[in-house]
Amino acid sequence: MEFALDHKANQRAGPSLDPLQSIRRDLTNQSVAANKLENSRWAWFALTLAVATPALASSAGQKLFASNCAVCHQVDGRGIAAFYPPLAESIGAYVALPQGRAYLVHVVSFGMMGPVAVHGQSYDGLMQPWPQLSDADLAEVLNYVLASFNGDLLPRGFVPVSAAEVKRLRSPPMSFEQVYADRQALMKALSSKAK
Ligand code: HEC
Repeated sequence: MEFALDHKANQRAGPSLDPLQSIRRDLTNQSVAANKLENSRWAWFALTLAVATPALASSAGQKLFASNCAVCHQVDGRGIAAFYPPLAESIGAYVALPQGRAYLVHVVSFGMMGPVAVHGQSYDGLMQPWPQLSDADLAEVLNYVLASFNGDLLPRGFVPVSAAEVKRLRSPPMSFEQVYADRQALMKALSSKAK
């Protein structure tokens, strides 16, 4: 019940946080400013726009994140302290190990419950399972979070998550407890790797 209410409250606050909206606003502002510039600047602006547009159109991961995940993890991926953990500056470190890639697919596919700590802050909520996301969508949304909010942490030569990898890791199904155990084992492995 608490989650349903939170969800609604966040949705109401949602539109003003839409990242596409602010990008669109930026582009509009750029276009107004460009109007005032001489012709040579126009050519530069047209080039910027031509480069920026396909990137926006193909941002399926961004759209998936905005409509499914941002209500809790927030548009900037920074979460809400004590309620929803950040995905920014955190999960990029997980993919340094193959079991971290597997954990990320597992937690989004099957959900998780149990106390966790991220950046020294504790969380003990419910991450719901997302069976409605296709293998390709799940890969897109993870790649979006990894590339957009975890760029600094990605290991050298990081290979984006593929739909085939998601498909393979998605069966057999796991319980919340099993996914939680996955995370515990991953944290242990990452800390011994750091030593
Ligand atoms: C209703 C709120 C909610 C929504 C919506 C939600 N999450 Fe979560 N998510 C959580 C909570 C709460 C946790 C922590 C669970 C715990 O404490 O065991 C979590 C945990 C996670 C983790 C694990 C983080 C870590 O450090 O181990 C990942 C990854 C994640 N979510 C990704 C997503 C993605 C991707 C989506 C969208 C498809 C999403 N979440 C949608 C609430 C949510």
